[in-house]
Amino acid sequence: MSAIAVYPGSFDPMTLGHLDIAARAAKMFDEVHILVVHNPGKEPRFSLEQRVAMIQDAVSGVKLPAGAQILVSTLASGLLVDYCRRVGAAALVKGVRTNVDLDYELPMARVNRDLADVESIFIPADPSFGHISSSLVKQVADLGGDVSKYVPASVARALKN
Ligand code: PNS
Repeated sequence: MSAIAVYPGSFDPMTLGHLDIAARAAKMFDEVHILVVHNPGKEPRFSLEQRVAMIQDAVSGVKLPAGAQILVSTLASGLLVDYCRRVGAAALVKGVRTNVDLDYELPMARVNRDLADVESIFIPADPSFGHISSSLVKQVADLGGDVSKYVPASVARALKN
């Protein structure tokens, strides 16, 4: 039986920090599902389909351990734990940059465990990506800055247009 992890988020857009977490998760799990979730509390810059296309392009350049794979899916509505149940995921994966991230993630991790006994695994962000966020990247790009060292090439292209 293959071990499956779900890595959920808005990914609006994906950063190199996100990509690093997915690649590291793929060293521990046979299948990592990057799940692009519609967050009703946020007005997205990119549609779910655009985000998936950019992530698929980025993931195609990742060197994976033999037998491991990264899939990209969407969750337009419904509970994350229901998706986890559907695909038989053993765990959720989240990247953590700072204690602020941990404060944000812990209640969600506890609720997901309460709801469906789904465990969360926190992967510490690589320090080289610790200051990168989707919102900062969008702001810099909107003001004409170069974000190519923060995001995959597909995202840099989309932000330029
Ligand atoms: O990248 P984000 O926006 O911080 O990710 C938040 C996300 C998508 C992981 C969170 O909003 C989520 O889990 N949404 C799915 C809906 C759900 O299951 N909510 C209840 C459990 S927290």
